[in-house]
Parts: sequence; structure tokens; C-alpha cells
Amino acid sequence: MKFDILTLFPGMFSGPFSESIIKRAAEDGLIDIRLHDIRDYAADRHKTADDAPYGGGAGMVMKVEPLAACIEAVRAERRNSRVILTTPRGKRFDQALVSELANEEALLIICGRYEGVDERVRELFVDDEVSIGDFVMTGGELAAMVIVDAVSRFIPGVLGSADSSASDSFSDGLLEYPQYTRPAEFRGRGVPEVLLSGNHREIAQWRRRQALQRTLATRPDLLATAQLSDKERDYLEELANGRRS
Ligand SMILES: C[S@@+](CC[C@H](N)C(=O)[O-])C[C@H]1O[C@@H](n2cnc3c(N)ncnc32)[C@H](O)[C@@H]1O
Repeated sequence: MKFDILTLFPGMFSGPFSESIIKRAAEDGLIDIRLHDIRDYAADRHKTADDAPYGGGAGMVMKVEPLAACIEAVRAERRNSRVILTTPRGKRFDQALVSELANEEALLIICGRYEGVDERVRELFVDDEVSIGDFVMTGGELAAMVIVDAVSRFIPGVLGSADSSASDSFSDGLLEYPQYTRPAEFRGRGVPEVLLSGNHREIAQWRRRQALQRTLATRPDLLATAQLSDKERDYLEELANGRRS
């Protein structure tokens, strides 16, 4: 998977991309991340990348010409890139979108700054507008890092164990069950007996029920689309009505 990130602040990426799994994936050639400084594509002497908004109002807007030149330069090399604009008004970035994006050959991610980018960038070049949540950050760089990180986990070989993403939260429409590791007791708190039992069928059943309980408690909206058996739906109804704990 190839990622091209268009930003006014390429220096922000050096930390997150030079540690741990993302660093290893890049070294192994599983992902290829390239940073492009939008300012390099500004034509004037001062490398101007922003200007005041037409119609007045607070703040500045990222100019269309440097962004257009930068996007076109990248796309000359990567014709099949899917172009993503980071913006709070985009569609919500969730695990379904992550797995969809992981099937692409290349992603070109535009990081906005100031009051955002000139609307003509969206009209002319953008395939998807993506928001990482209902809040506003100072720029799209952190959103780009989130996208690269989450999408990379779906690239075969990036995660150590083949099934470590299969049980993640959202993979089956539910939040993940609780995890424990040694010691078996800490400050009077033990590990649930069933996890020490070695009985794989009971462990799987306990985990599934915990996932159902957690999802019902904190993200009941996910249950509407989760794949559930009739028995599991009955179990949830009993939980919701307080007939189960
Ligand atoms: C200060 S924000 C602009 C906010 C814009 N004026 C608005 O109200 O929608 C600057 C840039 O940060 C990025 N950004 C901020 N919040 C974001 C979010 N929740 N998801 C994705 N990108 C975001 C976008 O690239 C945006 O262009």
C-alpha cells in the first residue's frame, strides 16, 4: 500500500512513523509512505499556501493552486490513488471504511490547516472527505496519521499474528472482550476463572458474552448491524431487561 501525504508540516510525521509496527512495515516494503510539502508547490517567492477567505470572515484558507500542483505531481506517478481530504465535515472514519481503503493500491491524503481548503480542491480532485470524529483539530496531520495507522493494520504481513486483527473491536460488529495477562492476581483482583480453565469452548463463549455485554453498555448503536444469532439476541434482551448480569 502506498500513502502520499500532502501537508504544510511534514516534520510532524517523523515521530509516529519511525516507531514500532509502522516503521517495521515500511522497512519491510509492505507500506510506502511519502510526505509532500505543499509549500514546495507554491509559485511565488514567499511560498504562499493560504489567503484570506472571499466574503470575509476569520482565519485563512488554503489556496487551490499549490494543492492542485502537488496533487497532480503525485498523481503523475500514482495514477490510481484514491484522494482523501481530511475534514470534520467528512464521513466518519470507522472500521468498515478502514477495510475498504485497505483494498486500494494507493491513498493520497490531504491535510488541511487554518479554516480548511478552497472548495475547488474538493470539486476537482477529492474522492472522499473523511472525518476522524465530531471534534475540530488544528490540522489534518493527526487525522492522516490515524488513517495510515488503521489502514496499515489491514495490510497482510503488517501485524505479527494473522488473527490479531480478527478479534479486534468492530471486526464482527462488537467491541472486544476484556483481556488479561500475568499475574493471575493483582491488588486483590483476580482473572476470571474460566480463562484459567483451559476449556476453549467455555472461554470462547465467555468472551462472546463479554463482547455482547460491553457493546450493550457503551455502544448499543453497534448492535443494530452486528451479526448475532437468535440466542445472542435473547441474551441481550435479558441483559437489557436486567434479568441477567
Ligand atoms: C481548524 S480545521 C478547519 C475546520 C473548519 N473550519 C470547519 O469548521 O469544518 C483545520 C483542518 O484540520 C483538519 N481537521 C480538523 N478536525 C478534523 C477531524 N475531526 N477529522 C479530520 N480532519 C480534521 C482538516 O484538515 C481541516 O481542514
